[in-house]
Amino acid sequence: MCELYCKQDTLALRKKHIGPSCKVFFAEDPIKIVRAQRQYMFDEKGDQYLDCISNVAHVGHCHPEVVKAALKQMKLLNTNSRFLHDSLVEYAKRLSATLPEKLSVCYFTNSGSEANDLALRLARQYRGHQDVITLDHAYHGHLSSLIEISPYKFQKGKDVKKEFVHVAPHPDTYRGKYRENHADPASAYANEVKKIVEDIHNSGRKIAAFIAESMQSCGGQIIPPAGYFQKVAEYVHGAGGVFIADEVQVGFGRVGKHFWSFQMHGEDFVPDIVTMGKPMGNGHPVACVVTTKEIAEAFSSSGMEYFNTYGGNPVSCAVGLAVLDIIENEDLQGNATRVGNYLIELLNEQKAKHTLIGDIRGVGLFIGIDLVKDQQKRTPATAEAQHVIYKMKEKRVLLSADGPHRNVLKIKPPMCFTEEDAKFMVEQLDEILRVLEEATSDKSENVISEETLCRTKMPKNVHLELSSDNSIDTKENSSRKRNGLCIDEHSLLSKRFE
Ligand SMILES: Cc1ncc(COP(=O)(O)O)c(C=O)c1O
Repeated sequence: MCELYCKQDTLALRKKHIGPSCKVFFAEDPIKIVRAQRQYMFDEKGDQYLDCISNVAHVGHCHPEVVKAALKQMKLLNTNSRFLHDSLVEYAKRLSATLPEKLSVCYFTNSGSEANDLALRLARQYRGHQDVITLDHAYHGHLSSLIEISPYKFQKGKDVKKEFVHVAPHPDTYRGKYRENHADPASAYANEVKKIVEDIHNSGRKIAAFIAESMQSCGGQIIPPAGYFQKVAEYVHGAGGVFIADEVQVGFGRVGKHFWSFQMHGEDFVPDIVTMGKPMGNGHPVACVVTTKEIAEAFSSSGMEYFNTYGGNPVSCAVGLAVLDIIENEDLQGNATRVGNYLIELLNEQKAKHTLIGDIRGVGLFIGIDLVKDQQKRTPATAEAQHVIYKMKEKRVLLSADGPHRNVLKIKPPMCFTEEDAKFMVEQLDEILRVLEEATSDKSENVISEETLCRTKMPKNVHLELSSDNSIDTKENSSRKRNGLCIDEHSLLSKRFE
């Protein structure tokens, strides 16, 4: 039996008993998912959806080997890490082996938020300071300590930025402060961090850490330019801070060639702390912080014990080990490279056809489609993006839109995604964009009317967003020719990491 309640009753009970700030996908017409397998999810009627968004179901939904490992260990023993257990040390050993040598000490937690919170504690204890530099539009988790360093959240809510938090521009070479036509965007963005470091020191404060996702996810599928992290690390280390790489979304081989996304930046860049989560347990709640011996020793020198009831329990470790085996045995990194490259190729063909597509960026199975109303101004097509994801859902493809303007279609499917899936997804997108562009072809600019959107069931706030775009950066490029060239250069920047 898959259902306890009919869909309407599930919805009514959810409204009654679940906090209203816990949002569902497709709020106006939510989907009830009752089972899933590989890259497919099934609703209560048995309809199949192609899942392009569940990076948590990393090796495929309900992978039989993961289920088997969990069940086997669950039948035998589940307890905490105060008892000696082989799977805890084996898992720590296997994870360390995927990382540069100096990252050898693990702390297991239950969520990415717990991992990032602990990473902050480690850095602050090690350095004896409080201040943190974070990137604009970053999201690092839902705990109070992380909302404080997540502009993605605190800029939307009533919270104000704390005095110990410093926000650096996010290194977005498509829509950010320094773009692909800049001679050296990596240095330009890193210099912004350097300036913040100097300002902090001039005001008598000291930094504990710089934290960044190796590729920004919620921030709009942003791939930092090559060389950026090296330079930032130099300035941060120079000021006595530590570098925390948040790999909660983008780790475990998603980028294909490398196991960790930070490794795309070259062997001369090694963070001091790496946090990981989501894909780690393929849906089972397990996360981890890995750091150096030196930082770990400084943490224990405070005298305070670190204990986490569920962190590193035998079932989580068995699940985590199964995930590592599957990534290797099924060559999922190779698949991410092959299918990711193919998908990017198909999407670039779409870009040549559709004026709504401003930029395609990505590595492996981490891809963003930046929708714009105007190619030259790069005006984010927020309402259009919402329209597209609702229409894709009608075609049984699950996508989401994110980024500061919610105009970037995010693609981060389970790693078993195939070329056929990629082709199917792109065909549906092509058709939706064609209809949308035809409906707006009589307009001078690529702006869609509410009438066009109203043909689809849409959340009310989408209509509001349509008329409240005035906060959007409309920095123009000087000519169409240069714009075309810039876009090519931008693609090249992303390609350096392949
Ligand atoms: C980059 C990043 N870090 C940390 C977290 C927090 O992870 P969790 O939701 O498992 O607490 C998230 C969650 O979306 C995330 O995207």
